[in-house]
Amino acid sequence: MTAPILRTKAALRDAVQGWKAAGESVGVVPTMGALHAGHLSLVEAAKAGCDRVIVTIFVNPKQFNTASDLENYPRTEVADAEKLAPYAVDAIYVPGAEEIYPEGFATSVLVSGLTDGLCGSHRPGHFDGVTTVCAKLFLQTLADRAYFGEKDYQQLQVVTRMARDLDLLTEVIGCPTVREADGLALSSRNVLLPPGTRAAAPALNRVLRQVAERLAEGESLGPVRFQAEAALREAGFSELEYIELRSADGSRHWNTPPGPLACSPPPGSAGCG
Ligand code: PAJ
Repeated sequence: MTAPILRTKAALRDAVQGWKAAGESVGVVPTMGALHAGHLSLVEAAKAGCDRVIVTIFVNPKQFNTASDLENYPRTEVADAEKLAPYAVDAIYVPGAEEIYPEGFATSVLVSGLTDGLCGSHRPGHFDGVTTVCAKLFLQTLADRAYFGEKDYQQLQVVTRMARDLDLLTEVIGCPTVREADGLALSSRNVLLPPGTRAAAPALNRVLRQVAERLAEGESLGPVRFQAEAALREAGFSELEYIELRSADGSRHWNTPPGPLACSPPPGSAGCG
C-alpha cells in the first residue's frame, strides 16, 4: 500500500502532532524525488531509527543555479510513491511551492565557511537554498532525526552545522553512498547522462580513490593531482571544474597549484544536488 501523500504543512502538522502526542519519534528523509536505491537506503536507516518516517519530495528552486537544470530535473511522483510502498513510510510530504516559499518570503539561512570552495564556489547560492529549505523542512516536520547521504558530503557537513548553530531539535545523520556496480554514485541526474558520458563517469570514483590512497602513502599533491587530471581526461572527461582536497569537516584544505584545469566532470556526476 502506498503511503498517504500530504501536500500542505497543516496536514503534515496534524499527522506529526498525533505521533508526538503518543510519544513516537519522527525521522525525515528530505529528497527532490526521482528516487533510487541511494534515497531508499536513507529510508531504511530512518525506519530502523525512528517510530515514524516522513519522506519529503520537493524540487527546491532556490538551490538551482540555472533555469534549464531546474526545468530538466526529473519529476516522477507516481513512480516515487510506488518505490516507497515496500518501506511502509508513514507519510510522503510533497509540498506545493507556496507551502515552502509563501508570498513575500524573505528569509535565508546561510552557513559561512563550510560553503566556501568545492560546490560552494561553482554553484553560487546553492547551499543557501539547501540550508533554507532544510531548516523549513526540519521545522515543518518537527523531526527528531534527518537522514542525509554522504554522497553530497559538503551538503551533509553544511546541514549538520546549520542544525547545530541554530539549536534545531533535529539531529542530522549521515549515511553511506550507494553506488552502481561500476562505482558511479547513484544520482537522480544520472538518467540525464548521454551514453558516452555515462561510460566515462565511473572514472571519477576510481581516480579519486587512487588520489586518496596515494596521498595517504605520502605522495605530494602536485604530481598526484596532475596525474589524476590526465587519467580523467583519458577516460573521456573533456573539462574539469575542480579537484580540491579537504579534511572531512572542511577545517583544513590544501591548495592545489594555480592555473586553469583542462577537464570537467560529466554533468551530473559530481555530488552537488
Ligand atoms: P536529492 O539529490 O534528492 O538527495 C536526497 C538525499 O539522498 C540527500 O541526502 C543525498 O545525499 C542522498 N543521496 C543521493 N544519492 C545517494 C546515494 N547514491 N547514496 C546515498 N545517499 C544518496 O540532496 C538533495 O536532494 C537536496 O539538496 C535536499 C537535501 C533534498 C534539499 O533540497
